[in-house]
Amino acid sequence: MNIGIIVYSKTGNTFEVGSRLKGVLEQKGHSVNLDRVTIEGEAKPGDKDVKLINIPLVDGYERIIFGTPVQAFSLAVAMETYLKQVPTLGGKEVSLFVTKHLPFVWTGGKRTLGQMEKVCKDKGASVRGKEIVFWNEKSREETIKKCIANLSSQF
Ligand SMILES: Cc1cc2nc3c(=O)[nH]c(=O)nc-3n(C[C@H](O)[C@H](O)[C@H](O)COP(=O)(O)O)c2cc1C
Repeated sequence: MNIGIIVYSKTGNTFEVGSRLKGVLEQKGHSVNLDRVTIEGEAKPGDKDVKLINIPLVDGYERIIFGTPVQAFSLAVAMETYLKQVPTLGGKEVSLFVTKHLPFVWTGGKRTLGQMEKVCKDKGASVRGKEIVFWNEKSREETIKKCIANLSSQF
């Protein structure tokens, strides 16, 4: 299967998870492209005028996995800006993951997944998997492994 992993990652954590997920999916025989949304300068939570530089295309993938950090208990504005400009996800199945620092799903994890799910559904996608990676020292590796295992088990 031809799979796209599209992430925004300010400090590299989300990209690292995407990269490990790509490796696991490739081991299963899939063709995987990992693409990173980039922006001009810095985007602070609440910014309205985020300028995208690298704008990954969604065409051509049979399945897409979107990843983003949680910022200010919400979807990072860079990823929000990117997702909102995607022309269509009509008929596609997508999966989602977020990385975050604080423990508990209610410190932005669930809300961010909900925000991403809404945009994807509004663009015509059906959402299959949703995962949260907690980047604090204790549970990081455990939650990365769970995220990768659950998302890759769909393929
Ligand atoms: C501006 C900003 C706001 C953040 N807000 C939250 C938050 O509300 N909840 C949380 O758990 N982590 C929060 N974090 C931590 C990031 O979500 C976490 O470090 C994430 O793994 C970073 O991913 P990245 O390296 O891909 O950018 C915030 C980080 C930044 C820079």
